Amino acid sequence: MDVKEVLRFTDNLVFAKTGKHLADLEETVLRGVWQGKTYIQIAEESGYSEGYARDVTSKLLKVLSKLLREDINKSNFRSTMKRYHDCNFSNFKDIVNFGNINNFCPETSYPPKTPQNSPPTQTSTEDNTQQKPRLDLRDAPEIKTFYNYPNSPLTALETWILEQNCRLLTITGMAGTGKSAIARNLIPQIQTQFDRIIWRSLRTSPPLETTLKTLIQFLSNQPEINIPANTDDQLSILIETLRENRCLIILDDVQQILSSGQLAGYYKPGYENYGTLFKLIGEIPHNSCLILNSWEPPSDILTFTDDNSAVCLLQLTGLGEAATEILRDKGLLDEEQWPELIELYHGNPLWLKLVAQTINNLFNGRVSQYLSYQPVFLSDELTPILQQHYQRLSEIEKQAIALISNENEPVSFTQFMAKCQGSQVELFKAIQSLDRRGMIEKLSCESETVFTIPPVLKQYVKMVGE
Ligand SMILES: Nc1ncnc2c1ncn2[C@@H]1O[C@H](COP(=O)(O)OP(=O)(O)O)[C@@H](O)[C@H]1O
Ligand SMILES: [Mg+2]
Repeated sequence: MDVKEVLRFTDNLVFAKTGKHLADLEETVLRGVWQGKTYIQIAEESGYSEGYARDVTSKLLKVLSKLLREDINKSNFRSTMKRYHDCNFSNFKDIVNFGNINNFCPETSYPPKTPQNSPPTQTSTEDNTQQKPRLDLRDAPEIKTFYNYPNSPLTALETWILEQNCRLLTITGMAGTGKSAIARNLIPQIQTQFDRIIWRSLRTSPPLETTLKTLIQFLSNQPEINIPANTDDQLSILIETLRENRCLIILDDVQQILSSGQLAGYYKPGYENYGTLFKLIGEIPHNSCLILNSWEPPSDILTFTDDNSAVCLLQLTGLGEAATEILRDKGLLDEEQWPELIELYHGNPLWLKLVAQTINNLFNGRVSQYLSYQPVFLSDELTPILQQHYQRLSEIEKQAIALISNENEPVSFTQFMAKCQGSQVELFKAIQSLDRRGMIEKLSCESETVFTIPPVLKQYVKMVGE
């Protein structure tokens, strides 16, 4: 058994439970422990202080002890690993099943490994422990290949947060437009400016109290802190913490606390108090920042966006030209046809990845052959995504989107009002709501605004109407 096997074994084990691979520093530390090195030697090799190396080692060994349900320390690490190896336990799935380790959760994750294509970090934090923020990125996606491009929103986000001191930033866009990817890639760019960074997904629709508790415990760095029962008191503690330390909070999948069947941005019953959290963070002076990723902006946020440079909204629509890199990555052919494919799929990186798979499977990568078939093919992977968006719409929005989808040409406001049933106010609201959801495109045409629906969505809406 060599050190590489030990690292792979440990990495598999930790990944199976936390979804995170070992960070470079953790690998260095483990290698040192396996080789029986002292903390001073490990610190020299890693470029970190002795105290930090000791801290990382102790956390990692605690994680392993919990996963393997036995006490693993620096001195017995090598013999324990050998024992597992010799007993043929090296398949991590066996360990997960045998150990029944369902309740384990590590306290802190470390900066992820940076792949070649990720943006360069502004300042290297690798050799300065003082600049390293406390991170909890357990809920965050892995950093994957990310194509940046001139004038990309990543640059805008960095400016808003670091120069304009934006306190509340909402990133909206349909599923797959890259909200999580951009927020994840933003972290290494700005992390040296923050003391603490936490990423939480609201995919399970946690009540506000649960979210506040998690945020307060981590951001105050007091896991055992006494949390008052009253929500207002919890909010006060959080705001105080955001004043004392510069914190970056990312709440992902915020659409999960918003309602279906209504116009965009209404909270689900029982979740309205999230609005108070967002309002306080947006309006009260502090140096921290909250990023919300959502399919649509919570409606109250729009009321305090105007005249407040500390509250920003970014609507992602697609990658534009940078999407060609995704198609290149997938090995597609007929490059001259790529712009057409990108337009059909609205530059949405997820949709393009899915159609690229289809084109590779059915047409050996030949884009022109795929495009010779009409209409746009909705795969089994893409259809449920579109369905989720469609099902969230109110009845009047469904009517409006069906009407616009039935037209071959963009529809002007006048045409739309003439053809649609319903009061003017309701129709205005429906269009506005579809716009906030990123499900309608507005084009300025001579003296009038005209609307279209992204082709893939149009195809889905027609299919539902048949
Ligand atoms: N700029 C980009 N370059 C390369 N891939 C991207 C980019 N933006 C998003 N992706 C990829 O597209 C997919 C969808 O992105 P994701 O961030 O999950 O979307 P969202 O959070 O908006 O649903 C992911 O596989 C992601 O890695
Ligand atoms: Mg996401």
